[in-house]
Amino acid sequence: SGRIRQNGTMNQVDYLRISLVDRCNFRCQYCMPEGSDLAYVLQQDLLTQAELLTLLREVFIPVGFTRFRLTGGEPLIRPGVVEIVSAIAQFPETKDLSMTTNAFLLESMAQDLYDAGLRRINISLDSLVPEIFDQIIGHRGKSRWQQVWDGIQAAHRIGFSPLKLNVVVIPGVNDHEVLELAALSLDREWHVRFIEFMPIGNDQLFQQQGWIDSETIRQQIRERWGLTEASVKGNGPADVFRIPGAKGTLGFISQMSECFCDRCNRMRLSADGWLRPCLLNEIGQIDLRSQLRSGVSTQALREQVSELLGLKPEINYKQRDSGTTGKYHRTMSQIGG
Ligand code: GTP
Ligand code: 5AD
Ligand code: SF4
Repeated sequence: SGRIRQNGTMNQVDYLRISLVDRCNFRCQYCMPEGSDLAYVLQQDLLTQAELLTLLREVFIPVGFTRFRLTGGEPLIRPGVVEIVSAIAQFPETKDLSMTTNAFLLESMAQDLYDAGLRRINISLDSLVPEIFDQIIGHRGKSRWQQVWDGIQAAHRIGFSPLKLNVVVIPGVNDHEVLELAALSLDREWHVRFIEFMPIGNDQLFQQQGWIDSETIRQQIRERWGLTEASVKGNGPADVFRIPGAKGTLGFISQMSECFCDRCNRMRLSADGWLRPCLLNEIGQIDLRSQLRSGVSTQALREQVSELLGLKPEINYKQRDSGTTGKYHRTMSQIGG
């Protein structure tokens, strides 16, 4: 056991993003648009709660993982999510536990999640205009914006902190709202993050709309209010700034214009139990679920994961051009965001 230091780099890979389910109650255009031909994981192929906790206790924690993020699809639709949170929060080795959610079900679940030990949440909020929001999440009928907003307010009231709001900036769709969204960081301790749109999940939309780089967005914000460097608790690749005097911060996740592979500190566990060393690269994946079910010992799995940790610096997304060719067939919802 013990910590594994990477050859050649100083960053320690101790952050595991755990997808609890590949399904989602939204159909975000940039992620899993309606009509996209999605093969959901079969119920029987999902890691059970017991299997997930066994893997964490006997494989991931012993090799040095201490920071965990629950993702999806939408993690709040996973039955037993509160119990899972509670179990992970109680591992003495857990240094950080967080969740990425669309907040549609958050209002009624936020208190239970908090009581179970969850302290920080990242919420997708791509627009403040209900019609645009619904268009982005692929929803017709009664708007879902208010319920998401109520979920964010509930999380704020209950005391989740830092509370982060994720905005994927799509030219021609929500880029005109950048200043209004940035302004959410002024009066409350809300941390707004602008994410560069990536060609994963919906290549067609990407080809149609293109993407906007973080520096262009920062420039708009600088012209309006000014920007200073800042920091906020987090494990991700965001570059953090603050509008002078604002309570919250602004983060920029720039995976298109900047390569942060060299400081990558995470691996991903999909809902069907595959461990994946890189979001955008399929090399090195390990099927932990099948092995666990066929009786492979957790010690043997631990050795495999250790070995993969050693290979991690070589498994990255250096061939950046291949990212725009549409060869990444797994969506964010399948991999875990
Ligand atoms: P913090 O711990 O709060 O910093 O969280 P985070 O930024 O790691 O998590 P979140 O789920 O909010 O991630 C936001 C988005 O950042 C993801 O949905 C991706 O779009 C992007 N992102 C996160 N990790 C990676 C990564 O390893 N590679 C790439 N290309 N993008 C990533
Ligand atoms: N490009 C950038 N970010 C994406 N997300 C999903 N699809 C994409 C994409 N194509 C991110 C959103 C959401 C999180 C769950 O995944 O930020 O908040
Ligand atoms: Fe669901 Fe998140 Fe994907 Fe939207 S981005 S469809 S909320 S998993």
